[in-house]
Amino acid sequence: MKHTDIEVLFSQSEKFVNKSVIVCGWVRTWRDSKAIAFIELNDGTSLNNLQLIIEKDKISESESKPALVVGAALCVTGKFIPSERNGFELSVESVTVLGSCPQDYPLQKKHHTLEFLRTIPHLRPRTKYFEAVFAVRSRISFAIHKYFQSHNYKYMHTPIITGSDCEGAGEMFRVTTQNWDAKYAKEQEYYAEDFFGAKAGLTVSGQLEGEIAAMGLGKIYTFGPTFRAEHSNTTRHAAEFWQIEPEVCFADLHDIIEIAEDFIKTIIKDVTDNCPQEITYFDERIEKGLKQKLDNVINSDFAKITYTEAVSVLKSSGKDFKFPVEWGCDLQTEHERYLTEEYYKKPVFVTDYPADIKAFYMKLNSDGKTVAATDLLVPGIGEIIGCSEREADLEKLKSAMSKRNMPLEAYMEYLDTRKYGSVPHSGFGLGLERIIMYITGVQNIRDTLLYPRTVGSL
Ligand code: 4AD
Ligand code: MG
Repeated sequence: MKHTDIEVLFSQSEKFVNKSVIVCGWVRTWRDSKAIAFIELNDGTSLNNLQLIIEKDKISESESKPALVVGAALCVTGKFIPSERNGFELSVESVTVLGSCPQDYPLQKKHHTLEFLRTIPHLRPRTKYFEAVFAVRSRISFAIHKYFQSHNYKYMHTPIITGSDCEGAGEMFRVTTQNWDAKYAKEQEYYAEDFFGAKAGLTVSGQLEGEIAAMGLGKIYTFGPTFRAEHSNTTRHAAEFWQIEPEVCFADLHDIIEIAEDFIKTIIKDVTDNCPQEITYFDERIEKGLKQKLDNVINSDFAKITYTEAVSVLKSSGKDFKFPVEWGCDLQTEHERYLTEEYYKKPVFVTDYPADIKAFYMKLNSDGKTVAATDLLVPGIGEIIGCSEREADLEKLKSAMSKRNMPLEAYMEYLDTRKYGSVPHSGFGLGLERIIMYITGVQNIRDTLLYPRTVGSL
């Protein structure tokens, strides 16, 4: 169907002004007077609607009301003309109704609550809010690829079905074709008869395979879905979320922190440059001062503090935390948010966590107690990046794994990377939905995904 995108009409208006054009889209709003109907048409290419001016006696009965209603899909031909109120509008010559829309269409009003819209995930892409969120989600994804591709990283597709629990938190979804049956005396027998002949699950992280690829390709990144059966029913956790995981050889913790900071700033700058309408909309509708916040992030240095220092800051904060702080405890969201929102008021890297609360693959520091790891915390959200230098020493790595009762024989290939030409290397994982929340001000992770999967909700 030959037609022009509404975005193209607005951005290249001089080419189309006073000419006849064809546009397609859905009716967002509809206003009627005796002789004229005013329709706001949206085709998803621009946050701006195109105003249609329809002189009713010009179009045939079958095309006029009741067919021209909110939610209906139209293809219209008309003259693209300047307008004082809207910049440009379309003086309609003919209308074809592509899809009519009965009265029970749930999006009759202009504004709906996010809670209500969560009950109609299949229709919410037709609202301005979700049009803006998904435009930014798309642009961030593009900017991420652009960043890594222009810095010589190879994009790796690591497996989604895997046998290894990278984070060791026991949060893997099982992948199986076989039901448990009383005939199996032991778990092993059951898995042996299952599709892969072994216990399999959905990956929580592409890191381990990413490391294997990096140990030959030098610099790689993954960008794909990851899955966690976390029972945390919060506004920041999804069971299916997208993760970006670069892995960089010949880089220590200091180097990867520099990369992560440059990466985050570059992504934010790209989105603010390329999605100005969306960012303005979010600034007005969702988070007042968003633009200023993003500009500040781009133009100032992120803070850095060690875990040990952070514990003393928290202890002397005078705050009445729900979870008391002691050296060795995992930082809770309330602690993370105090550090980044109240103490620094900007993004902060917390480094050198106790080894006991972090994953097996992190490099042990010379103190023998902490690891060369960092979480990047940002105001309003908390952790958006988990990062570390990897343990490159075979014996130390084996010892960290044994301490956690991990079956070494299941990780022989991973261990081979430390046996054959091991090198210092580091990487991080960024949660895509978390950075979307940070850049847009969206408060709930459920509103960054087309179909959010969370505990109790498929
Ligand atoms: O800190 P995490 O668990 O780190 C890893 O998975 C490492 N393997 C990364 C690496 O070094 N390659 O997760 C990384 C990020 C978190 O900082 C967070 O942004 C996001 O993934 N994330 C989630 N996002 C949404 N829902 C969840 N349930 C998430 N769990 C983690
Ligand atoms: Mg983490």
